[in-house]
Amino acid sequence: MSAKKTVVTSALPYANGPIHLGHLVEYIQTDIFVRARKLQGEDVIYCCADDTHGTPIEINAARQGISPQELIEKYFHEHRRDFADFEIHFDSFYSTNSPENKEFSDLIFSRLRENGDIFTKDVELTYCEHCLRFLPDRYVRGECPSCGALDQYGDNCEKCKFTYAPTDLVNPRCVICGHPPGRKTSLHYFFKLGNYTDRLRCWLVDNPHLQEEIRNYILRWIDEGLRDWDISRDAPYFGFPIQGETDKFYYVWLDAPIGYISSTRHYCTRLGQRWEDYWLEETGRIIHFIGKDIIYFHFLFWPAMLMGAGFNLPERLLVHGFLNVNGEKMSKSRGTYITARDYLEELNPAYLRYYYAANLSPKMADIDLNLDDFKNRVNGELIGNFANFANRSLTFLAKNFDGRIGDVSEPELQGEVLRRADKVREAYNRADFRAAIREIMEISDIGNRFFQEKAPWALIKTDPEAAHRVVSFTVSLVRLLGILLKPALPRFCNRLERQMDLPHQDFSHLSFDLSGHTISDPSPLLPRIDQIGLIRKDPFASVDLRVARIETAESHPKADKLVVMQIELGTEKRQLIAGIRHAYTDEELTGRHIVVVANLKPAKLRGLESQGMLLAASSDTALGLLTTDAVPGTPVRIAGIEYDGTPEISIDDFMKVSLSARDGRAWYGQSALQTEDGREIEVHRRVEGGIK
Ligand code: MSP
Ligand code: ZN
Repeated sequence: MSAKKTVVTSALPYANGPIHLGHLVEYIQTDIFVRARKLQGEDVIYCCADDTHGTPIEINAARQGISPQELIEKYFHEHRRDFADFEIHFDSFYSTNSPENKEFSDLIFSRLRENGDIFTKDVELTYCEHCLRFLPDRYVRGECPSCGALDQYGDNCEKCKFTYAPTDLVNPRCVICGHPPGRKTSLHYFFKLGNYTDRLRCWLVDNPHLQEEIRNYILRWIDEGLRDWDISRDAPYFGFPIQGETDKFYYVWLDAPIGYISSTRHYCTRLGQRWEDYWLEETGRIIHFIGKDIIYFHFLFWPAMLMGAGFNLPERLLVHGFLNVNGEKMSKSRGTYITARDYLEELNPAYLRYYYAANLSPKMADIDLNLDDFKNRVNGELIGNFANFANRSLTFLAKNFDGRIGDVSEPELQGEVLRRADKVREAYNRADFRAAIREIMEISDIGNRFFQEKAPWALIKTDPEAAHRVVSFTVSLVRLLGILLKPALPRFCNRLERQMDLPHQDFSHLSFDLSGHTISDPSPLLPRIDQIGLIRKDPFASVDLRVARIETAESHPKADKLVVMQIELGTEKRQLIAGIRHAYTDEELTGRHIVVVANLKPAKLRGLESQGMLLAASSDTALGLLTTDAVPGTPVRIAGIEYDGTPEISIDDFMKVSLSARDGRAWYGQSALQTEDGREIEVHRRVEGGIK
């Protein structure tokens, strides 16, 4: 055992949305790792925080009509509750919007400046005159300058993978307001990452704990030459102002990793310990868990900042892959974007912890939550193999021997089990949980086979003492397995400890010495998974909304409230009937670009067929069409929910989608409707109310 003081971290989740099953891969992985270390008596703490700064948080708060502080406060509580419910135990879960984090950010920034690592220069950036703000990459969309694909972000094209600057986009649009942005010059601060080229290379090459595949990857980046890093952002921005500036802020990725230090310090202050022992002294050891999307920040910028400011460097960075659900990226349209809360409403967190553990290795591979496999493995292995074995053994002991454990005499099997238990411990320490779980299940198999072969229920009739020895062995084995499973399934194993009337167990209790101990009342540890209803498709996914141009409009021959319109939908023409006579004249309608439900089952209205339905907002007194300047045929969506291709929906299906009008725009939940090429949908006459 080392005398090191270890701080283990997970990447800080953005305080801008709920925790989902993808995030949980990382927090569960880190939690298991830390628990395994603690159970071996190591001095280790798990520190994390919410990542609270940046443009998206500022903009989202504004959209919801609240302050950024209120927004991050709300997610702080939600995140903490979700993590606690998933049995993820942080020694410190803090916030990057904290006084400590400001202090450390200023300290590190000023040290880097003293080193000569920081310089300023003018940069030309995309600027929206309408929103009065600079637009970061994600807030400009337009056509790819290379392949012409529509509606691409400002940094790279999803279709052809070409990377460029927002200023290169053809036909750019501000994502917030839809206006074409201009350009403006601003003075920015830069970090000369290149000053650390040699030191970073040494750190990567000398460090035996880094994943080989990733090391080579990063070394290649270094060989290609390290570019300067833009570390400032202009107001409006939610973050810490740069020392000596009023409307320039540290870029969120500068102060975010510093949150690891602040969170540690927050913990230490509470417990009267020294944060310096972790981050400055030789006693300290730092281990980061991160996802593969944030490698660049953690293997280059972050260690360079630490080097420059004189802090300890991370000893290990464990990079995991991404979560797929049923073999595909999580997606709202497929209903596979599952939040922590959605899951908890239906299933026990132990199942997911088990499944993730059984699939996690120290490799960067993606992990797939295949729901059939999930159910089969949990039911077959965790419940079928282990929980049932535990319950059978404990029940047999309780019923026949008053719960008193006797002597065990299976020296060979005991030896084998203890050797395997040691392999489990090593696997946990390598973060190879898949190997640990496999080994645990093999040990449980041994126990099951032994119980079955010795048949104590028959043996007890002829040789009760022998039967007692058999069940004493299996019950001791159950205790041992309960300890080995504890990092992955803490609550489950605590339940087992209580049933066995044992005090807190750790890895020092991995033995068969339980003779004379009496257990209390056994009961089933965990029910089987019955049905999984986690995938709930968003009803918006099946609605095909498109822009249409009204070519002609006239009154319905048989109903004076109805208007008959001929519309053009890009490549096809259709007839539409709507009860909007009280609000629009034929002249007001003709030539207008509106939004229609293009896959609604056709219906006859007083003898004439309506092939679709137009969208309009209505209040008690007024009616306003949804309009846009986009070309007919253009799909209308919200970010994140693609049309799934459903050929036809009923009016009842459509009624499940509740759209509303507010601030002159059309909303589905918190997202504004827009055309696929990023144009705004307006509510004519700014009517507010429901949309139908
Ligand atoms: N705020 C930054 C990290 C700052 S660390 C100084 C961030 N936040 S995040 O909320 O987007 O992601 C937090 C962690 O969860 C990251 O390590 C990320 O890789 C991981 N995951 C987010 N979605 C994931 C999946 N779908 N699958 C697996 N891990 C994922 O990045
Ligand atoms: Zn704008």
